Amino acid sequence: MRKLWIKDIVEKVDQTVTLAGWVANRRDHGKLVFIDLRDRSGVCQVVFGPWSGEDLYNQAQKLRNEWVIEIEGSIKKRPDNMVNADILTGTVEVEPKAMNILNESLTPPFPLDTDGYEIDEEIRMKYKYLDLRRERLQKNLLLRHRVIKFIRDYLDTKGFYEIETPILTKSTPEGARDYVVPSRLYHGTFYALPQSPQQYKQLLMASGAEKYFQIARCFRDEDTRGDRQPEFTQMDLEMSFVDQEEVMQLNEALLIALVQAVAPHKKIQQIPFPRITYKEAMEKYQTDRPDLRENKEDKNLLAFCWVVDFPFFEKTEEGGWTFTHNPFSQPKPEHVEKLIHKDGVENILTTQYDVVLNGFEIGGGSIRAHQPEILKKVFEIMGYEEGVVVKNFGHMLEAFAYGTPPHGGIAWGLDRLLAILQNEPNIREVIPFPKTGDARDLMMHAPAEIDKKQLDELGIDIQKNKK
Ligand code: AMO
Repeated sequence: MRKLWIKDIVEKVDQTVTLAGWVANRRDHGKLVFIDLRDRSGVCQVVFGPWSGEDLYNQAQKLRNEWVIEIEGSIKKRPDNMVNADILTGTVEVEPKAMNILNESLTPPFPLDTDGYEIDEEIRMKYKYLDLRRERLQKNLLLRHRVIKFIRDYLDTKGFYEIETPILTKSTPEGARDYVVPSRLYHGTFYALPQSPQQYKQLLMASGAEKYFQIARCFRDEDTRGDRQPEFTQMDLEMSFVDQEEVMQLNEALLIALVQAVAPHKKIQQIPFPRITYKEAMEKYQTDRPDLRENKEDKNLLAFCWVVDFPFFEKTEEGGWTFTHNPFSQPKPEHVEKLIHKDGVENILTTQYDVVLNGFEIGGGSIRAHQPEILKKVFEIMGYEEGVVVKNFGHMLEAFAYGTPPHGGIAWGLDRLLAILQNEPNIREVIPFPKTGDARDLMMHAPAEIDKKQLDELGIDIQKNKK
């Protein structure tokens, strides 16, 4: 590409360069026309004047916001009293010699040079490709990229493989409702989109992968909130031959290194991260995700903590038992016997560990049961009939019967972590194309009806929403 990043023009004083980007602003001062030219890297001032020649000057007068142009011009140092300290390129300006109009633009429905919080969010979502042009959201895209790249590089040095797992899969019992995809070849059957790669990553441990991670898209058909989206991203990780302490330490070290690398202005309140038990958290803070910040006014304070020793089971409304976090977890070592003998089910503690940041649960994981008997017991306590267990989890029990090593892992809610690092009020601001609170994509108009032909192929008759 011939184009130079706008941020780099300060290094090119008195040289001729080619720039390309969007017109962020045009000011017509009679003999001079000023353009703020914006690309991903920043903004600079372009001044059309006598040096541009008449044709170019007339062209400049036609320019409007968000037109896309390419400019050839020389970089001039500004006199000291004209320096604009508000922009990175404020010590220089561009004197254009040639211009190519690459595309015109309608007037955008909202300003792009503000942080955008003041604009109705539904309109921002409808024109997300315009909304994303604003500096704040460009920064969020950049941080997302940096965080993911840092995690990849870090885990690579620790011997992890990044492995993709299927998106078309089968319902998993992880608490939320599934998004389902009808099968064309087998009418009346459905794939489910994964709520998390939980079972696959365990099966990868059975496969001998030993250290796995994935930047994994997860799908949950649950009510959305500020910190929940129907599709979101996990940093998902699993390791073989480890205990709870090793998984926690690796994740803590990664979180600390990550913050230092991508957000060095942030201060981690306490290292090592404090650890509290679920019982203490509930007694002291009445929540299992306490906000431990000593000063909640400080935008750059990060109070991480681990919450451990969760009960494995909780009572259902019908009086039975269900899991609190993850049915695939191993009880704490000293509680395994209790599980096997179903002795004091309410007192069985699990190896679950949650990582909490400033009052948000940003991750959770556990050591897993890797022996079929233990997993079977969990299902037995929850009152699942043997047939149901075999139908839903037969593949897991079978894999465990073929030498699955002890293993454990975690998943971080990457969107939540990013939102906190960027001081954003909700995760929609750090997700490039988020959905509304009622799960719609206003730009693509999803969900949407499909053709009769597609329905017929899928063997589906629609019953119109009776609501
Ligand atoms: P869990 O369900 O706790 O665990 O999910 C892990 C983390 O993902 C984030 N999260 C979400 N973020 C945005 N929108 C959502 N709807 C949403 N739901 C969850 C949270 C949460 O801590 N398989 C296990 C992990 C494991 O045991 O390894 C799992 O998915 O930050």
